[in-house]
Amino acid sequence: MKIAVLPGDGIGPEIIAEAVRVLRALDEHFELEFAEVGGAAYDRHGHPLPEATLKLAREADAVLFGAVGDWKYDQLARALRPEQAILGLRKSLGLFANLRPAILYPELAAASTLKPEVVAGLDILIVRELTGDIYFGTPRGRRAAPDGAFAGQPEAFDTMRYARGEIERIARVAFEAARRRNRKVTSVDKANVLETFQFWKDVVTEVHAGYADVRLEHMYVDNAAMQLVRLPTSFDVIVTGNMFGDILSDEAAMLTGSIGMLPSASLNERGQGLYEPSHGSAPDIAGKGVANPLATILSAAMMLRYSLDRAPQADRIEAAVRKVLAQGLRTADIAAGGTAVGTKQMGDAVVAALG
Ligand code: IPM
Ligand code: MG
Repeated sequence: MKIAVLPGDGIGPEIIAEAVRVLRALDEHFELEFAEVGGAAYDRHGHPLPEATLKLAREADAVLFGAVGDWKYDQLARALRPEQAILGLRKSLGLFANLRPAILYPELAAASTLKPEVVAGLDILIVRELTGDIYFGTPRGRRAAPDGAFAGQPEAFDTMRYARGEIERIARVAFEAARRRNRKVTSVDKANVLETFQFWKDVVTEVHAGYADVRLEHMYVDNAAMQLVRLPTSFDVIVTGNMFGDILSDEAAMLTGSIGMLPSASLNERGQGLYEPSHGSAPDIAGKGVANPLATILSAAMMLRYSLDRAPQADRIEAAVRKVLAQGLRTADIAAGGTAVGTKQMGDAVVAALG
């Protein structure tokens, strides 16, 4: 089994180092091959996603990804910015299904900014479409406004679009996932305003005909944003487009108190996947050894389960994470003002708890 390891920028290398230590402690034979990505790759090779990195990712059974981005690259042309690396990997590998669980660990209820009784028992799975929508829709660019009150002025535009097959396959992922959970899917759209999302709603409804055992509800995205803080435990699986999923998954992550706890998986039709923490590169704390490595360690667990056919090892890692939380270990982001351990100490504790 070959794993491409792409640490990236900011806290990426520190959190990836801990996940790698956990993988190595499993006594399995994994071939880990490292490559540069994001700003780190731009600095050395002049491109955020060098050909060699892309080739490695394509050939690997799975990709373990840290994070990309730093303010110092904000002035670069869009095509050279670190974010293009993750977007390029998603598109080139066809990683259309992004699974972002938002789970409240009972030990961390106090870390949530919401009242404990509102978030108790929270367990949501966001299924975000990842290779379409306004993120990748063409045409896009700048031009002279062709019409309207500002005709002739410079304008910028993007294109929101979804093809039937794109909606069908992500809807199936959501319904299948709901079957293994609480059998409810909330499809989030903006059908009251956007053609694209009226079509989305129609197609999701059609696909649902094959899943009579799963409940389907439709919700406008603004209402969904509100319900997520009002009654978050009313959700089971949320399925939505790329843009709305980007926004709602950050919101859902924060309900749990720390985005530093949440892993994610991005899968293609062949089960190949890219696994990354749901949080970003946090350049403000990079290199300080204080970042929470648990989201990355849990991403490695998802990788074992979804791409490497090693579910028992995934269970082992998840149990070890629960154990260290129960022991009271906290990195600064989840310490709620109490004593915090560093990135490496947290990694040490997980390795020790593997048993
Ligand atoms: C995410 C991130 C990315 C996105 C950025 C870094 C391009 O916010 O994975 O949610 O917008 O998809
Ligand atoms: Mg995001």
